[in-house]
Amino acid sequence: MVVLVTGSSGQLGQSLQYVAPKYKEVQFIFCASADLDITDMLQCKSVFEKHQPHYCINTAAYTAVDKAETEPEKAYAINVIGAKNIAEVCKEYNTVLLHISTDFVFDGTKNTPYKESDLPNPTGVYGKTKLEGEQAIEQTWEKHYIVRTSWVYSPFGHNFMKTMLRLASERDTISVVNDQIGTPTHAVDLANVLVQIILADNRQSTTDNFGIYHFSNEGQCSWYDFAKKIFEINKISINLQSIPTASFPTPAKRPSYSVLEKSKIKAKFGIYIQKWEESLVKYNS
Ligand SMILES: NC(=O)c1ccc[n+]([C@@H]2O[C@H](COP(=O)([O-])OP(=O)(O)OC[C@H]3O[C@@H](n4cnc5c(N)ncnc54)[C@H](OP(=O)(O)O)[C@@H]3O)[C@@H](O)[C@H]2O)c1
Repeated sequence: MVVLVTGSSGQLGQSLQYVAPKYKEVQFIFCASADLDITDMLQCKSVFEKHQPHYCINTAAYTAVDKAETEPEKAYAINVIGAKNIAEVCKEYNTVLLHISTDFVFDGTKNTPYKESDLPNPTGVYGKTKLEGEQAIEQTWEKHYIVRTSWVYSPFGHNFMKTMLRLASERDTISVVNDQIGTPTHAVDLANVLVQIILADNRQSTTDNFGIYHFSNEGQCSWYDFAKKIFEINKISINLQSIPTASFPTPAKRPSYSVLEKSKIKAKFGIYIQKWEESLVKYNS
């Protein structure tokens, strides 16, 4: 089984490379942006023609949430046109598409976990382009799994955990917001789940499972709680201040609540999901 991964030098792409050796039945083809620019349809076609993948995991994305506010065309080109190109080429080669989306498609006005059926209403350019990317895929190619996730971190690439650890080596005091609630997701857990979906799809060959899924680790916390746990686990002593979002303005407005409800992915694929604290400890020990 051939699985092609786009955006392979990103955080999730590197996490997929990390888990790949344990899935002996899968031949992974990892394409970084230099090998495959998803905004270039000709390149998409030539890479698919060469590798004839059975599955494609599209991790490639424009992920700079604040920068997107001043670069909307670039975010649109990658998150919408790029996603559409990948869906079109998947259709041409009968490749099942796994695409990653985000909790930022929601506006955060709920106070109970967001279901797949809840109405999206993004608050910024990044979330808007990710939602339009989902819609472009849905309109183009039915053989798709869209997995929305949240607060992704790992030892790879850029993420909140690595930023906290860097700041702790530079400062005595760090202020982190306490009124945005969500769930951290370890990219390695997400990578394993994506491969589990592929293995289940390949075993069952049913069309019933295609569609949107939510996946994060279990539980919920604020960014402040997340930072506190990161320092605790890494035995870092620092003056950590908890502040409201109003004291830390950012160009993009973020949802104040974006916990994802995961019963659909658990029921369809029999997935056990670890608590966010357990995953944080597991990969730091
Ligand atoms: N990080 C999070 O907290 C988070 C939360 C929810 C959902 N997600 C979603 O999860 C997915 C993976 O995120 P991530 O954290 O792994 O992001 P990431 O570390 O920023 O990686 C994204 C990758 O996409 C590549 N890329 C950008 N433009 C491209 C193009 N035109 N063609 C091909 N590749 C291109 C980048 O390559 P270059 O570096 O070479 O440009 C980078 O390697 C994304 O869909 C993201 O929206 C992330």
